[in-house]
Amino acid sequence: VECHPYLNQRKLLDFCKSKDIVLVAYSALGGQLINKRADQSIPVLLDDPVLCAMAEKHQRTPALVALRYQLQRGLVVLAQSFNEKHIRENLQVFEFQLSSEDMKVLDGLNRNFRYVNILMTTLIYFLMNIDMDDFYQSPCMWTVTQWASQMLATGHVTSV
Ligand SMILES: NC(=O)c1ccc[n+]([C@@H]2O[C@H](COP(=O)([O-])OP(=O)(O)OC[C@H]3O[C@@H](n4cnc5c(N)ncnc54)[C@H](OP(=O)(O)O)[C@@H]3O)[C@@H](O)[C@H]2O)c1
Repeated sequence: VECHPYLNQRKLLDFCKSKDIVLVAYSALGGQLINKRADQSIPVLLDDPVLCAMAEKHQRTPALVALRYQLQRGLVVLAQSFNEKHIRENLQVFEFQLSSEDMKVLDGLNRNFRYVNILMTTLIYFLMNIDMDDFYQSPCMWTVTQWASQMLATGHVTSV
């Protein structure tokens, strides 16, 4: 499921743990590629001041803190990158630890905010048989995102 400090899925995680189900987190970095290009008003997780301050404290990056947060909560965490520097950096997730106080602070960032719009994703896959990375860089991305946001705002769709 989508899971990151802005959508920490606490209730679902507790349920899964009670049933011995391992939760897998995607968009753990806030699915940056999509949102930075699509809508400037969407909060960028990796720019969050609390996350950045914690990264500075541990002399790591906000991405690493966001990934480490999920590991310490017992999730399997996915991170996508096409950038060698980022891929190498993300492997450092096993090299440091957040304190229980840090974890509480990160829990406090939750705002039930979703980056992934399932409606939009479904539309993309059904209507456009193109490479997703090409699509992210096309003007269509902005249009589809705006349309999906309107559907949500007008109540035609209630969840994504
Ligand atoms: N099953 C589903 O419904 C579903 C839904 C969404 C996503 N997913 C899957 O979950 C995986 C990850 O999700 P996602 O792509 O949405 O989002 P994500 O992993 O949260 O974010 C990927 C973005 O973060 C950047 N990034 C990676 N490491 C970084 C670092 N250390 N510092 C700064 N930026 C960094 C990447 O850019 P660079 O390439 O430049 O590093 C990329 O733009 C993907 O494989 C995706 O297919 C599945």
